[in-house]
Amino acid sequence: MTFSVPDFAARKLHHQPIVMVTAYDYPSARFAEQAGVDVILVGDSAANVVLGLARTTAISMDTMVEFAAAARRGAPSTLLVGDLPFMTYQPSDADAVRNAGRFVAESGCDAVKVEGGGAMVSRVKAIGDAGIAVIGHVGLTPQSAARFGGMKVQARTHAQACALLDDAHALEDAGVVAIVLEAIPFEVAAAVTKRLRVPTIGIGAGAGCDGQVLVYHDLLGLGTGTPPSFVRQYAALGDASRDALARFAADVRERRFPAEHEGYPISVEELTAFERALAARD
Ligand code: KIV
Repeated sequence: MTFSVPDFAARKLHHQPIVMVTAYDYPSARFAEQAGVDVILVGDSAANVVLGLARTTAISMDTMVEFAAAARRGAPSTLLVGDLPFMTYQPSDADAVRNAGRFVAESGCDAVKVEGGGAMVSRVKAIGDAGIAVIGHVGLTPQSAARFGGMKVQARTHAQACALLDDAHALEDAGVVAIVLEAIPFEVAAAVTKRLRVPTIGIGAGAGCDGQVLVYHDLLGLGTGTPPSFVRQYAALGDASRDALARFAADVRERRFPAEHEGYPISVEELTAFERALAARD
């Protein structure tokens, strides 16, 4: 593994950006590893982009464990983070440790991520005491988005920005190895980043973070709706897929597929014998 947990701190120290991307299955993780990303997050955004669910709160631990295990098979040498789904860690420290442990034992994850600020201090400590590295996540936290009136930009007032900084400090003191900052003004993200010892990884939080993360389907143009404004699309694989599938359908309907070389040959002798056998039967 080229990037391991201690490298979060080292990258911050040496001002080297951390590259994180989500992936949820064998091929996507394999492509991410081949591309040389530092960290793969098996995000609960899988609920939206893979399962077509409206909210991340609907995905189960069993599903996330299975997705993470597939991602691990695709990316055996990349730091893999399991995103603890809704209600697998909020109820108690014991739940948090048990489910973080499942990601490590059953999926081969190297770390887990939890959403939330100061209220998560005890969970972060408990998971850390069990020997598992934890990444925090503040700003827009989709699992509790309903409480804030939906998927909205956070920390837009000075009071909210100060509260976010307090949350980040609390997570840092509890032992997180990095903190995801989602959907906050870039000035706030930069100020928070400057004041933390641990690196920040931004998504919709501007260039002042120590690293950046994007959702696989967003950056490759595989999503179904309009992506958020902070997304940069590096490919249009959704359009390319739709076009390829339409051409396949047309080729089948017009009998242009398959061609002779797109099948298996039989020797002339066997074919002749087969035709004789058929003639005898008919
Ligand atoms: O689930 C996810 O994809 C995430 C990222 C947005 C950080 O939590």
